[in-house]
Amino acid sequence: MQVLVTGGTGYIGSHTIVELLNHGYKVVAVDNFSNSKKEVIDKIEKITNKKIKFYKLNVCNKRKLETVFKENKIDAVIHFAGYKAVGESVQKPLMYYRNNLDSTLTLLEVMGKYNVKKIVFSSSATVYGDPEELPIKETARLSTTNPYGSTKLYIEGILKDLYISDNEYSIAILRYFNPVGAHPSGLLGEDPNGIPNNLMPYIVKVAKGELPQLNVFGNDYDTPDGTGVRDYIHVVDLALGHISALEYIDKNKGIDYYNLGTGKGYSVLEMVEAFSRENNVKIPYKIGPRREGDIASCYADTSKANKKLNWKATRTLSDMVKSAYKYVSKN
Ligand code: UFG
Repeated sequence: MQVLVTGGTGYIGSHTIVELLNHGYKVVAVDNFSNSKKEVIDKIEKITNKKIKFYKLNVCNKRKLETVFKENKIDAVIHFAGYKAVGESVQKPLMYYRNNLDSTLTLLEVMGKYNVKKIVFSSSATVYGDPEELPIKETARLSTTNPYGSTKLYIEGILKDLYISDNEYSIAILRYFNPVGAHPSGLLGEDPNGIPNNLMPYIVKVAKGELPQLNVFGNDYDTPDGTGVRDYIHVVDLALGHISALEYIDKNKGIDYYNLGTGKGYSVLEMVEAFSRENNVKIPYKIGPRREGDIASCYADTSKANKKLNWKATRTLSDMVKSAYKYVSKN
């Protein structure tokens, strides 16, 4: 089976390609390197000792994307490509809507033209907004608090309408919780440009001495230690979730939604403590005000993915924080 991966050199895309190759899939990848580097392709090939076919292109470019479908027999698509910074999306909403919606519509049109009807889509727990109940089930009320989140929710709606129009489609919508960690080889990981928005990349920069201290965004939430609680999931477990979803949609038509998390929440201070302990490094931090738009707690009910996709996250918090540090120490 040959799989097209959009956003293939990104953080989650690259780890997923490694697992696809390890599971015997053939991979065609596309990316425009808007938030990733060309070297990632060599690293994927080094880890797996296999080759991928790669096209540098923007998924919004229909003519170029069509070439990929013309030149390769694509059986299914995993669609990662998209902008993902919450704060930036508030500053530049039109850029987010244009890019994330346009790329998806273009991809779906081209898939339709070439009769490719299997797709796994990268959604996010952000579609649950401020959850009414924990752990969060897939049936929870959906709402968003920023344009990035809205693009994910709208795309989920587009895919639903597409399925209603044509029941031959097989669609898996994966709602990621908080992906962290890196490939055990230390070759692939998350390395955002500039000052990181997310907790783990920020902690890593503090550990390396590139930033003086972590700012903890509030300690007055209704959580055990007052700091925000999230469901952190190892990126390799997340990547394996895509393999399970692909196996499922290959055999079953329909559209369905799955939480990919561990089901366990950790607070900001627990993450700091685990990182320091496991890597034997000090993480100075200061408690500051809450970050606008943040919620107190968010963690998944993963029973649907466990049962239906036969998938479960198995990597520990120690694996997450150690691999994250190993990656930056090596790169
Ligand atoms: N935090 C800090 N200091 C920082 C960064 C984060 O205290 O410098 C705290 C946040 O307040 C939050 C926790 O660490 O309590 C996690 O924050 P992240 O920014 O790492 O992650 P979020 O849960 O805010 O957002 C992530 C992704 C979004 C996605 C969302 C889904 O970044 O893309 O999960 O729930 F939409």
